[in-house]
Amino acid sequence: MLNIAVFGSGRGSNFQAILAAVEKGKIPEARIVCVISNNSSAGILEIARSHSLPAYHLSQIQCATEEAFVELLQSVLDKHEVNLIVLAGYMKLLPRELIAHYRHRIVNIHPALLPKFGGKGMYGHHVHEAVLAAGEKESGATVHLVDEVYDHGGILQQTRVPVHQEDTPETLAARVLAVEHELYPEVIRRIAAGELALPAPAVLAHT
Ligand code: GRF
Repeated sequence: MLNIAVFGSGRGSNFQAILAAVEKGKIPEARIVCVISNNSSAGILEIARSHSLPAYHLSQIQCATEEAFVELLQSVLDKHEVNLIVLAGYMKLLPRELIAHYRHRIVNIHPALLPKFGGKGMYGHHVHEAVLAAGEKESGATVHLVDEVYDHGGILQQTRVPVHQEDTPETLAARVLAVEHELYPEVIRRIAAGELALPAPAVLAHT
């Protein structure tokens, strides 16, 4: 069974799409066990609470050291026996120790066709502005493994969308977001069903 922790900083529409798929029974081998945000007013926490899911506001600011923050995060993840971390609009880089502990068990979605248009500073409208400025004919969404570098880990699956001549960052963002909502639940379904084999985990053994 996949015990998923979702991390997000904002509105949580990808989380909502994944949750809907789980609730409709489309991903029978997975459950969402907690939601974590660095932002106390994030929509993603409200959505979690309205579905009676454990929702945590956990931020580095609450801790004196990064070590203490890692311990805090780890205690929550252990409590819920998490074996897959799903980043859905999480704006912080996870502590290195946590990334190492959950090696190959952390996934992220990015609103472009990586390896293009990724990296530090490439988030939200910046991504779509860069795609338009480069004159790209297509863009899309990428689900990838998370490592210590922004948007850098192995690519798991991508969906492409056309870029139209009259596109603005907003219209392109909307077209990409719509496919994200299909792509992310599908990748999680494939992982949960064993159709998409992730590289061996570092240490995890929760079943
Ligand atoms: C999405 O565009 C995702 O690709 C990026 O952050 C955004 C999160 O949106 N990583 P939401 O909070 O899921 O609505």
